[in-house]
Amino acid sequence: MYKILTKDGRAKRARLETVHGVIETPVFMNVGTAAAIKGAVATSDLEQIGTQVELSNTYHLHVRPGDETVKKLGGLHKFMSWDKPILTDSGGFQVFSLAGLRKIKEEGVYFNSHVDGRKIFMGPEESMRIQSNLASTIAMAFDECAPAKAEREYIQNSVERTTRWLARCKAEMERLNGLPDTINRHQLLFGINQGGTLEDIRIRHADIISEMDLDGYAVGGLAVGETHEEMYRILDVTVPHLPEDKPTYLMGVGTPANILEAVERGVDFFDCVYPTRNGRHGHVYTDHGKMNLFNAKYELDDRPIEEGCGCPVCRRYSRAYIRHLLKAKEMLGMRFCVLHNLYFYNTMMKEIREAIEEHRFAEYKKEKLGRMSRPEM
Ligand code: GUN
Ligand code: ZN
Repeated sequence: MYKILTKDGRAKRARLETVHGVIETPVFMNVGTAAAIKGAVATSDLEQIGTQVELSNTYHLHVRPGDETVKKLGGLHKFMSWDKPILTDSGGFQVFSLAGLRKIKEEGVYFNSHVDGRKIFMGPEESMRIQSNLASTIAMAFDECAPAKAEREYIQNSVERTTRWLARCKAEMERLNGLPDTINRHQLLFGINQGGTLEDIRIRHADIISEMDLDGYAVGGLAVGETHEEMYRILDVTVPHLPEDKPTYLMGVGTPANILEAVERGVDFFDCVYPTRNGRHGHVYTDHGKMNLFNAKYELDDRPIEEGCGCPVCRRYSRAYIRHLLKAKEMLGMRFCVLHNLYFYNTMMKEIREAIEEHRFAEYKKEKLGRMSRPEM
């Protein structure tokens, strides 16, 4: 059940009720691709840093440890010991970005595993069965994310196939949700809009999938090499063609600025590897921009990463200590940076929700962007 609580311009403050609890939006989902947040962050840590939704990947978990194994162990929630919502991406995107030598056919995609090279086939039905075995809260449709530089004709054909795949996903998900031995028989299915940077194809696709009565709608195929302005232009024209009374998810995005711009355009779900990946490289987010903790100027700096930050790291540890850990290649250094970064993203989303509730989102956005562009250290 999705309910818009209030709007501020096009920005939505909403709530999605699921069998695994309520998701307050706008929300940033924390990425744990292979059922693990990279940087040695446990699900028990997520409870300390305000995480609402964990995101894992169909493709990775199918390859290892295998979705049948996860099903035997009671599903992904039990396996990871995380009882809040989980969204699984469908495998489409990962197959296209990771797997070797693939062949796209009407029935699905043939490719080689990035782990052991073995031949795998995945189509809409396989993706739904894997996600049903994983028993995530929200499953994503099996789509093709066309290469950013693809020709118009390629994109047109790819989008049409993705639409046919979506109908097959929906039918298979309905069948699986009706089976007695399905772990989560209330699994939600989000469709994915594609179309590269071609406005007319995006709009036509959005109109078609909006008629398919899905539980939510994602905008995919962005942040794949186009400029930020192109991404905002596509959101400007596409989001108004998706159902307002359903969740909108911008896949794989992005920087704090990208998220603020997309919230302003009506998006309410996000995910991105930036806070985890940057954290593992000692890059941390603050209200005064990004800092590189490897920098020599932090050698004797006994302040926390960010003064006033309520995260478990800033409450206790100094820049100098974390810099030392990073330089000594101690795992703890990465872990601290990832924890702080996820807390930063989760807290920004909380601030966004409060700003929309109080109808001051535009001011909040301007203030936040202004602050982040003024380094103070
Ligand atoms: N993650 C980021 N972009 C995409 C996309 O276009 N499709 C899917 N399935 N996942 C994504
Ligand atoms: Zn912190």
